[in-house]
Amino acid sequence: MVVKPNIVRTERALRSKVSSWRDAGESVALVPTMGALHEGHLHLIDLASKKADRTIVSVFVNPGQFAPKEDFSKYPRDEKSDMAKLANYDVDLVFAPSVEMIYPHDFATKVILLGPASADLEDQFRPHFFDGVATVVAKLLILCQPHMAIFGEKDYQQFLVIRQMARDLNIPVKIISGSTIREPDGLALSSRNAYLSPDERLIAPMLHAILKDVAHKVARGGEVNRVLGTAKTKLGRSGFRLDYLEARDRKTLQPLARGFTGNARLLAAAWLGKTRLIDNIALKI
Ligand code: PAJ
Repeated sequence: MVVKPNIVRTERALRSKVSSWRDAGESVALVPTMGALHEGHLHLIDLASKKADRTIVSVFVNPGQFAPKEDFSKYPRDEKSDMAKLANYDVDLVFAPSVEMIYPHDFATKVILLGPASADLEDQFRPHFFDGVATVVAKLLILCQPHMAIFGEKDYQQFLVIRQMARDLNIPVKIISGSTIREPDGLALSSRNAYLSPDERLIAPMLHAILKDVAHKVARGGEVNRVLGTAKTKLGRSGFRLDYLEARDRKTLQPLARGFTGNARLLAAAWLGKTRLIDNIALKI
């Protein structure tokens, strides 16, 4: 049965719904999003509805995580189309607050992070990004009071940062990851893929192809730094401007010790024209 989910915009209505569920002994899952929903978001929502009795999806384009020159004003927003997509899923409530509700005019608090948020990966290129993400996610967790919250592996550093933040602030929630959903040609789904020109869209899957190629060569005994060096050259020749391509510890995101063997993570961010793509995969050394 297709049912339009209930949209809630106020703290009062949200708390009243969640309390009624929790009082009845039902488990609650939250999937935070910035809208412009695609199959990647829908995969996380599906996972949430399988794991919990009640699923909340939050839709909030968070100004706190965009730098002044980033794409906050042109970030895609289409509530009608998001709601139509959610109607096919088992979603009990959509929390879509206004900017004023989340950041009243006298708002004056920020979560500041260390650990996986200062790994010289995303944080190096978007210095205030994770403080903005952690602040809004802390607020969403406190407002929605879920038993669990689901985040995509697509944003691997973000997932680790949020897990660390929830643990450090004793927020009683289990942070769960969901796998990355891709186009048939390997490009990780992202709301920002819409910015790619037709020519850039043809090149974009190379990012994932090259990550896979690095993982394959390293698994077959290739020396990590040498394989990474070749991959960086290949990305440059294909038209990417690389921010980083790094093999890191999969839990701390710190650089790997010399001679490291075991499970690691391969993470990349690169520009195609005016669009910044990020991706990551598991790496076995
Ligand atoms: P947004 O980019 O809308 O992503 C919402 C969630 O969907 C994140 O957990 C993200 O990792 C996940 N996701 C994005 N693309 C995916 C894909 N291809 N496969 C699987 N999951 C994918 O990330 C944010 O919003 C914000 O930073 C947020 C956490 C909501 C805080 O504002």
